Amino acid sequence: MAFSHDTIERKLPLLMILMALAVSFGGLVEIVPLFFEKDVTQPIAGLQPLTPLQLAGRNIYQREGCFYCHSQMIRALRAETERYGHYSVAGESVYDHPFLWGSERQGPDLARVGGKYSDDWHYAHLHNPRDVVPESIMPSYPWLDATALNYQDIPADMKALQRVGVPYTDAQIQGAISELDGVKSAHNGHLTEADALVAYLQQLGLVLKDKR
Ligand code: HEC
Repeated sequence: MAFSHDTIERKLPLLMILMALAVSFGGLVEIVPLFFEKDVTQPIAGLQPLTPLQLAGRNIYQREGCFYCHSQMIRALRAETERYGHYSVAGESVYDHPFLWGSERQGPDLARVGGKYSDDWHYAHLHNPRDVVPESIMPSYPWLDATALNYQDIPADMKALQRVGVPYTDAQIQGAISELDGVKSAHNGHLTEADALVAYLQQLGLVLKDKR
């Protein structure tokens, strides 16, 4: 009996190969159907691609590693939905490349932080979190409101996103720089990195915000 249970358990390399096969098959059965499921691949109603300013803010969110401490993924558990709002659904993230779901929560989840605080709160908080939340352990980011936003690469970013399915029109891409030229800074005379980051934070999760 070459293939009895006993033989397989005694031949470690064979056992490992068969285990890898079993696990891969199980994984494929779980994962492959998701590629074809509408709930997962289609944007939810009302989802818009980020504006050039919000996109610039998202780049800064990535550069500063905000996702090391903040998830953007509300789980479908009572404790989470009571605190953060509607649980995250896949259709909210279809324009996100890469996803910023994160897995660490040294800070609160940010998936629906949009509209929770005023812009001024965010500027103060990013500059020095302890000015608004005395017990905060979040690092200060005082350079963000002191650094002019460099947005020359935003059209190229939008073009790359368009290529992977984000519905930016060519006109939006061509108009991005002049749109950004026209945005007024909330604080300094010129547009800063903080302006872009706050614009990004303030739209997070709004599409599903009030539906519980
Ligand atoms: C070292 C971990 C850490 C990093 C990195 C970090 N944060 Fe935080 N963040 C926290 C903690 C802890 C809190 C809760 C205390 C507070 O509000 O300051 C917080 C709170 C927040 C809040 C308020 C959330 C709420 O619902 O009250 C926002 C918004 C926020 N962070 C944005 C950011 C952004 C944007 C970045 C990147 C520039 C960032 N954080 C980087 C730890 C972090």
